[in-house]
Amino acid sequence: MALDYAALRAEFRQHFSGQPRLFRAPGRVNLIGEHTDYNDGYVLPAAMDREVCFAVAPRADRQVRLRALNLDQQETFSLDQLAWQPKAHWTNYIKSMAHQLEAEGYRCVGFEGVIRGDLPIGGGVSSSSAFTAAAATALCGLADLKPDETRLVQLILAAENAATGLRGGIMDQYTACRGRRDRALLIDCRTLAHRLVTLPPMTLVVADSKKDRSLAESGYNERRGQCEAGAKVIAGRYPWVRALRDVNLDMLAACRGELDEIVYRRCRHVIAENARVGQAVSVLEQGDLHAFGLLLNLSHVSLRDDYGVSCTELDALVEIAWQVPGVYGARMVGAGFGGCILAACEASAVELLQAAIAAQYPQRCPQFAAEVYATSAGDGAGEVL
Ligand code: GLA
Repeated sequence: MALDYAALRAEFRQHFSGQPRLFRAPGRVNLIGEHTDYNDGYVLPAAMDREVCFAVAPRADRQVRLRALNLDQQETFSLDQLAWQPKAHWTNYIKSMAHQLEAEGYRCVGFEGVIRGDLPIGGGVSSSSAFTAAAATALCGLADLKPDETRLVQLILAAENAATGLRGGIMDQYTACRGRRDRALLIDCRTLAHRLVTLPPMTLVVADSKKDRSLAESGYNERRGQCEAGAKVIAGRYPWVRALRDVNLDMLAACRGELDEIVYRRCRHVIAENARVGQAVSVLEQGDLHAFGLLLNLSHVSLRDDYGVSCTELDALVEIAWQVPGVYGARMVGAGFGGCILAACEASAVELLQAAIAAQYPQRCPQFAAEVYATSAGDGAGEVL
């Protein structure tokens, strides 16, 4: 699946003059390593084959005039007056990104054009990071700015966190920028280095629960605080511990008496999940998809029972997927509290999975209609040439 770039150029010409340049960034699907990134841990995401694309041309002044085609909205603002719109408004991500670049000493230029995406908005595949990364790519491309790649990822994260109020980790922005076709990225969220992992033949299916994620922001920040509190207690006994990345299950057990029960369980998820990332890389490199699927299932159970970020809708989708022949494994992905699940399966199982969800999800969760689609690992952000 890809956007129709010729159609996007034509849409630009309907509203603006001249020729646009196209800057794109993809969504992400995290294979495994959930809620580990802000604990300095490991994650194994892939960029998706769905994206957000800005078709834009520079202006001689500092005005920004943009049409968000998916929303049928047009907005104009000046780079010299970056006052924010109400929360979650799409222009805030662009303003926040321009602000981060300029605070770093870069000078952006005004621009105009159209934006289109084929990512579900708010569907758990990080449409907001795709959007902010695409904005960053456009702002840098149009003004010929060349920040260091890792620094740019950090600026995108800062821009997005400021625009959303979420104390998010770096996985989504990193993946949107550095993803690679047919590969997953094993990211070390402490050193910010990554290694590419070739994916054996399997089909990745995303099922969007359509449950809104209104609880995600407070629940996410609360989990992050609990992890930090746990790491601090554990550091009392093991002074070299800076984050849960530095802790194993034996050390956690030794500190159990000093930890609040909820904090203990949150830490147990992060430590076990971090270990599963390493195991997932080895079984993927051996081509053992059944072992990989099992790790996905264990990840879901841990996110549900220890981390407390699943919900009825995600559990229903995962349980449906677990019963479909040819599905290696399935789990919720992303922050949780709504959003989507990922199932790894044989190509021949996709239709069976779609049919099972179509038949059973409405019975279990009648207020939502799930959207189910296959995806594959694509390339990170860049200009479409
Ligand atoms: C959200 C955040 C990421 C990560 C995941 C959970 O997607 O943006 O940084 O923490 O949740 O793994």
